[in-house]
Amino acid sequence: MGSSEELPEGTVQNIMEQETLKWVFVGGKGGVGKTTCSSIMSILLAKVRPSVLIISTDPAHNLSDAFQQRFTKTPTLVTGFTNLYAMEVDPNVENEDNLSSDMADGFMSDLTNSIPGIDEAMSFAEMLKLVQTMDYSVIVFDTAPTGHTLRLLQFPATLEKGLSKLMSLRTKFGGLFSQMTRMFGVGDDFGEDDILGKLEGMKDVIEQVNRQFKDPDLTTFICVCIPEFLSLYETERLVQELTKFEIDTHNIIINQVIFDDEAVESKLLKSRMQMQRKYLDQFYVLYDDFNITKLPLLPQEVCGVEALEAFSQHFLSQYQPAIVRGSLDEVEQRVSILKEQLHVAESELEKVKKGKQKA
Ligand SMILES: Nc1ncnc2c1ncn2[C@@H]1O[C@H](COP(=O)(O)OP(=O)(O)OP(=O)(O)O)[C@@H](O)[C@H]1O
Ligand SMILES: [Mg+2]
Repeated sequence: MGSSEELPEGTVQNIMEQETLKWVFVGGKGGVGKTTCSSIMSILLAKVRPSVLIISTDPAHNLSDAFQQRFTKTPTLVTGFTNLYAMEVDPNVENEDNLSSDMADGFMSDLTNSIPGIDEAMSFAEMLKLVQTMDYSVIVFDTAPTGHTLRLLQFPATLEKGLSKLMSLRTKFGGLFSQMTRMFGVGDDFGEDDILGKLEGMKDVIEQVNRQFKDPDLTTFICVCIPEFLSLYETERLVQELTKFEIDTHNIIINQVIFDDEAVESKLLKSRMQMQRKYLDQFYVLYDDFNITKLPLLPQEVCGVEALEAFSQHFLSQYQPAIVRGSLDEVEQRVSILKEQLHVAESELEKVKKGKQKA
């Protein structure tokens, strides 16, 4: 649109138009704006879809902050909407009705403990199972900072591994296994077969979801970042990992961009702007096949539905600086800045000259 080259459009319009999408992940480094962006994505999707659910899998739960409304682990209607629901789940905390608490102590728990990440995988699976039965048109994930997100997407593999480990133990120890489960913790009416049955059920869900996550018609991952070195680096790592897991990603949101009009007076902003421009250029070079959406850095936070709604305009149309380059206003402003800078430089020159004469 704005650019002369044939870059993909610099908005998230493509996601609005992809009607088959069922899972939209939003992720990136800490503090770059994941919660803000995922909240806005859910608001925008709610305008074009029958029903939308936004889930935070970040233990730090900040959907409540963004929407200024308390959410729990069951989907709650967001105030002011008829089809937008939000829930916050903590992948580290087990549900009471979870499998892991069914085998709270004893042999089975030792067994699950021996498979790293299986507890987390289980609660994730439980959550997905629940969400799948609810029949939302699209589900947006506000994920925890990068490392955590990728672990989440690895769960299907983790669970598969865990299950085969359990199965092989079962064959190996046969009767002893069921004797042990009966002896420790797990009661008569909750035998080994129940547990294995439950695990199998879980495996089905996980496999089904895994298949969906790898289908670019159903799932996409939006990378959020800021125009700085670390964030560029982290984004590249994220994109590579996603490619490895065969999860589609073709949208990058670059948040906190300082545009020309905001930088005109401040030297600090000006130099930050220059730094940003360097990394922005690199983003465009590295991800020329991505939809890159740039969002302006605001003077204030983006808190509450009203602020989110207002900020959402930058998701669907490219940011237009208040002062258009080449306009009379802009040229006048630039001339006055240059005059001021000339003045400063001249007085500096005077000072240096005087210093030299003294020496
Ligand atoms: N473009 C922006 N201009 C100004 N403030 C912003 C902008 N984007 C986000 N913020 C504010 O920055 C803070 C962090 O944003 P947000 O919570 O969305 O980041 P996050 O990536 O989810 O952080 P965390 O990793 O801690 O979950 C919030 O207070 C938010 O309102
Ligand atoms: Mg967040």
